Amino acid sequence: MNKILTDVFRGSFTQQEPIPQAGIDAALAVLNHGRLHRYNTSGDEIAEAALLEEEFASLTGAKYCLAVASGGYAMTTALRACGIGHGDTVLTNAFTLAPVPGAIAAVGATPIFVGVTEDLVIDLDDLAAKLDQSSVLLLSHMRGHICDMDALMALCDAAQVTVIEDCAHTMGADWNGIPSGRFGKFGCYSTQTYKHVNSGEGGLLISDDADGMARAIMLSGSYMLFDRHRAAPPPEAFAQIKYETPNISGRMDNLRAAILRPQLADLQTQCDRWNALYRSLETGLRDTAGLKLIDRPATEGFVASSFQFLLLDWPPASVQDVIARCRARGVELKWFGGAEPSGFTSRYDSWRYAPSDRMPKSDRILAGIIDMRLPLTFSTDDCSQIARIIRAQVSAVWQNQVSD
Ligand SMILES: Cc1ncc(COP(=O)(O)O)c(C=O)c1O
Repeated sequence: MNKILTDVFRGSFTQQEPIPQAGIDAALAVLNHGRLHRYNTSGDEIAEAALLEEEFASLTGAKYCLAVASGGYAMTTALRACGIGHGDTVLTNAFTLAPVPGAIAAVGATPIFVGVTEDLVIDLDDLAAKLDQSSVLLLSHMRGHICDMDALMALCDAAQVTVIEDCAHTMGADWNGIPSGRFGKFGCYSTQTYKHVNSGEGGLLISDDADGMARAIMLSGSYMLFDRHRAAPPPEAFAQIKYETPNISGRMDNLRAAILRPQLADLQTQCDRWNALYRSLETGLRDTAGLKLIDRPATEGFVASSFQFLLLDWPPASVQDVIARCRARGVELKWFGGAEPSGFTSRYDSWRYAPSDRMPKSDRILAGIIDMRLPLTFSTDDCSQIARIIRAQVSAVWQNQVSD
């Protein structure tokens, strides 16, 4: 029988908002003068890229900032600046996206995966047990879930493990009032289209460490023009480093920087809008039998540009049924438990270039993670409708399971 689908969502899960007019105007100004390269300035002009770095450093409270070609490039640069290279190991999350282990592999190192908890953050017990296996943790705040950063830093400091934060999903977020990215030696951000500011591709790296940032600036390809940077260590910091550090070009250009600067000025407003969408979904899904919402502690100042929930211990066929039913009603859900990596979802066991022992506790959680984008083109009413659809389909499949 062909049932008529009454509740169908018509929005697009991949449609971001347009670039604000101020960003378009600034981009046109750069196109009109043609000086797109960050070191191509006229007279006493300050490059858009240098201004962006200064503004992002000030927004996060970091001493130094470097604008680069992608979030992945920011991570490889941070790893290299920490001396990580061929044959080294790096601790990282089992629940993250492919660019994170990819950044570790890019410098010739091997990831050691650390498990995930039901709160979708790194498992601190598993981390404690593995801290003696590496000198660096590349901590991914995956999907914006921030672990107890005080506890994590205490563990890592005691073991003398350097922390690099992957803040691709936490630009604008904080733990206990301290911006995400300000706990570790480096904070790495992405400005790729689906992130909190959008330049198509791009990345930002922050640090308070003069030696580390001098290395990062040299690595990014500064042609000995490091004195053109403003959110940078003083020239003395480069005295030796400039001879020792290879140029591995990955600069950001002035066009992207021009697009980003007005978006940074608006970041707080956008974060508040994301969280309103998140709360609307959370309210609509609360107390749905079989569906577990993710606990968000009061100390976590999150920015919810996506939404996750758990169908914990469900048979894979039932999860697939929920996904198919939601898809038929216009709601696109992604699943971290699929047998094959697809789209943006993959897991530690998908990255076969970095073999790992199985992690049964994490496998159970990964098998239940359902993930959804929350573009700002959605309204809170849209999110109420999406919640209504998910709730109805999860409930229907859950009822079938219970009565089977
Ligand atoms: C968790 C996470 N970290 C890092 C990155 C890397 O960002 P980029 O795509 O800018 O290299 C991404 C991008 O998808 C990501 O999702």
